[in-house]
Amino acid sequence: MADDQNLDSAAAQVERAQADECLRPSIAGFFDEATNTVSYVVHDPKTDEAAIIDSVLDFEAASGRTSNGSADRIIEYVTSNNLKVTWLIETHAHADHISAAPYLQERLGGKLAIGRDIIRVQEVFGKLFNAGTDFERDGSQFDKLFEDGETFKVGELEGIALHVPGHTPADMAFIIGDAAFVGDTIFMPDFGTARADFPGGDAHQLYRSIRRLLSLPDETRLFLCHDYKAPGRDEYAWETTVKQQRQENVHVKDGVSEEDFVEMRTTRDKTLAMPNLIMPSVQVNIRGGRLPDPEDNGVSYIKIPVNAV
Ligand SMILES: [Fe+2]
Repeated sequence: MADDQNLDSAAAQVERAQADECLRPSIAGFFDEATNTVSYVVHDPKTDEAAIIDSVLDFEAASGRTSNGSADRIIEYVTSNNLKVTWLIETHAHADHISAAPYLQERLGGKLAIGRDIIRVQEVFGKLFNAGTDFERDGSQFDKLFEDGETFKVGELEGIALHVPGHTPADMAFIIGDAAFVGDTIFMPDFGTARADFPGGDAHQLYRSIRRLLSLPDETRLFLCHDYKAPGRDEYAWETTVKQQRQENVHVKDGVSEEDFVEMRTTRDKTLAMPNLIMPSVQVNIRGGRLPDPEDNGVSYIKIPVNAV
């Protein structure tokens, strides 16, 4: 990739962390089997400051009930390790689970962050759900909107955000020390890649975003947002490396052209059903994980657009 200064900065950060243990985060993954999602608590061992990435609010669609078991596991980990949460990060507006960020923010603090292009996602889905003018389509539901190449800190650890659109227009990867949290771009090498057929998705962009991430140093640790097991693998897994992905990813290993990837991705996406929780998830997540305002009876409702998607 020619002249990509933000990627160069990210690679330099990873190299600094690889050379110095003090610049590497401690990472705990929390797997939610109901939605195949992995949430992370990433912390600086020196200062105990932490970021929580892609948390899950449990939701039973049939009854419309939310619960906090998954989020409470994270709170338990944070409090028992005496961590101080400074960031609640979303890699994108998820379509398969509701974010627990507001619940966690109330109890643990921290700034709620997502990519700047969430505004485009809010436009598209604001229209689809016929959200009124009271639904601001300006990202103001979040405390921080990250742009490509923007740096941040978790304690004394260095972080940098990279815009990696394709699955949705707003996807970001967050690189903290030598660890990249890649959201929905690549999955484990034996499973492949994220779908690119949601509104605003683009398989060409996804290929370029993934190849960009795979230009990071070989031993960059990659932490994935989901796992679904794979033929021949019975255990869930969510950590891999750039090198392993370049050698083995069944969709985008070295040598696969953009054209071939797009052909494969587009064909495969046509066979995939919409995620069970897409309507509740998107509706809530574009509001920063907050439920739509209650109606005059005090109850919040989730809408389902009929014959519109
Ligand atoms: Fe996603």
